[in-house]
Amino acid sequence: MTLTRPILITGAAGFIGFHLCQRLLADGRQVVGLDSMNEYYDINLKRARLARLKEFPNFRFDQIDLTDRDRISALLLSANPEIVVNLAAQAGVRHSLTNPHAYAESNLTGFLNILEGCRHASVGHLVYASSSSIYGGSTRMPFSVHDSADHPLSLYAASKKANELMAHTYSHLFGLPTTGLRFFTVYGPWGRPDMALFIFTRAILAGEPIDVFNYGNMQRDFTYIDDIVEGIDRVMQQPATANPQWKSAAPDPATSSAPFRIHNIGGNSPVQLNRLIEVLEDALGRKANRNLMPLQPGDVPATFADVSSLEEATGFKPKIPVEIGVPRFVEWYREFYRV
Ligand SMILES: NC(=O)c1ccc[n+]([C@@H]2O[C@H](COP(=O)([O-])OP(=O)(O)OC[C@H]3O[C@@H](n4cnc5c(N)ncnc54)[C@H](O)[C@@H]3O)[C@@H](O)[C@H]2O)c1
Repeated sequence: MTLTRPILITGAAGFIGFHLCQRLLADGRQVVGLDSMNEYYDINLKRARLARLKEFPNFRFDQIDLTDRDRISALLLSANPEIVVNLAAQAGVRHSLTNPHAYAESNLTGFLNILEGCRHASVGHLVYASSSSIYGGSTRMPFSVHDSADHPLSLYAASKKANELMAHTYSHLFGLPTTGLRFFTVYGPWGRPDMALFIFTRAILAGEPIDVFNYGNMQRDFTYIDDIVEGIDRVMQQPATANPQWKSAAPDPATSSAPFRIHNIGGNSPVQLNRLIEVLEDALGRKANRNLMPLQPGDVPATFADVSSLEEATGFKPKIPVEIGVPRFVEWYREFYRV
């Protein structure tokens, strides 16, 4: 890819979008960022991320909601991006149990508007966020993109699986190269306040107890933000292509006769929740007061990424362990919130 046209990143004020924009801008690339700046979590954190991005002369920002079909279409036609990375979405498994319509709006209608926009603007590659949660009830570990994943346990997970199916139709019908990336529990500086590491850190520093679900026996394949950004950057420069070996009689879910790809991006080394808390206690220099709780509805007990397809395609696999990543998060948290 020549990369003379800009890169459009949706969800630019979000956790992953912010880091990806920062990386691409520092590399001198032209980036158009889009975000609705919704109030799902602390808007000041989103504003602070955006303020940093606006320091770069090669960054342009548009506050648009994915559901605004006309503005999304107009933006894609005027910006004429070579690559679109769709990270904007209503995230969060637990929130989807009480606010299902937000997921249908942003993740289904909004994603359709992105697909249509990409099709009409002749975008060279659409990369979009999927999620480890789509593996749902499967206990076949590690989770492989070549296995079926058709039993989501939350509407959030179902909306991410739907994105993969919708993307496939556009790859098939219109030749739009699409790559779906299933992220596994991403953490790091500037992270999301609704996620466990952030919630635990705030509570431990405030001397409050933390709710530890599944009695601490939950396993997560935690993935440090820099590994996610490296993975996205490499993947986006390689537009998905048709798999000549793909067989309709034994269809591989991760590839297709159309230019369609799915990869996992996960730490590839699951960590018990109890172990994560120990690492966090060490980084904070304080002990947590643990309130042991059962597994929550919609949550899966364990995640573990098989990243071989990512490695084959890009030569890269995540490598930063929680022992390095968690202290970096804590350092940022203390500085940002002055605690
Ligand atoms: N962080 C993780 O562990 C993780 C894991 C799996 C998948 N994902 C996916 O990765 C993507 C990025 O996640 P994140 O952690 O950065 O989340 P985030 O909530 O920090 O970022 C998403 C951004 O999208 C924006 N947004 C939401 N709905 C929008 C809409 N309708 N129109 C325009 N903007 C909208 C929000 O304002 C937010 O800034 C999401 O699609 C998420 O589902 C994240």
